Amino acid sequence: MKISVYPGTFDPITNGHIDIIERASELFDKVIVTVAVNSAKTPMFTLEERKEMISESLHSHKNIEVDSFNGLVVDFAREKNATAIIRGLRAISDFEYEFQMALMNRKLAPDVKTVFLMPNEKYTYLNSTIIRELARMKCDVSEFVAPCVQKKLRAKFG
Ligand code: COA
Repeated sequence: MKISVYPGTFDPITNGHIDIIERASELFDKVIVTVAVNSAKTPMFTLEERKEMISESLHSHKNIEVDSFNGLVVDFAREKNATAIIRGLRAISDFEYEFQMALMNRKLAPDVKTVFLMPNEKYTYLNSTIIRELARMKCDVSEFVAPCVQKKLRAKFG
């Protein structure tokens, strides 16, 4: 069984993340979407809210699990018997950071490979900060997030 992990902050999950997860789910028997607890960011949504939004957004997908981790992503991957870490590459600007992270993760755990996937080009300019910003300004974000995320954003910002 080929297992991969897809780590991130997911504050909140967007259609760009979902695009990557769907691509990964075609390549692996199981994809574990895992929320980083000790991210350097200060998330707007709690860990439970973020996990709930991920689960709801992906409820129709059979080979996807939602989890969280505290510590190194490679330790989490090993604990779950995963052979790969999935990362999305949206633009050249992602490359430097992702390259650094992939090489450090390889140094820490040579048995865990990083697999980069490219989302549909319509999501290349998307990130969670932009979504929160749009929602704060009461803009329609239905094109960019699942309905359950839209509902949660509306509840936060009115
Ligand atoms: N579509 C839309 N947005 C996307 C996206 C996609 N396909 N891929 C990434 N993004 C956005 C995210 O929404 C996020 O936006 P934000 O900055 O506005 O919050 C941004 O791009 C960063 O992406 P994300 O995938 O959430 O990564 P991250 O930088 O928040 O998380 C960790 C990085 C948590 C995976 C990484 O720090 C980690 O593994 N930490 C654990 C500790 C560890 O192992 N460290 C050693 C690593 S060398």
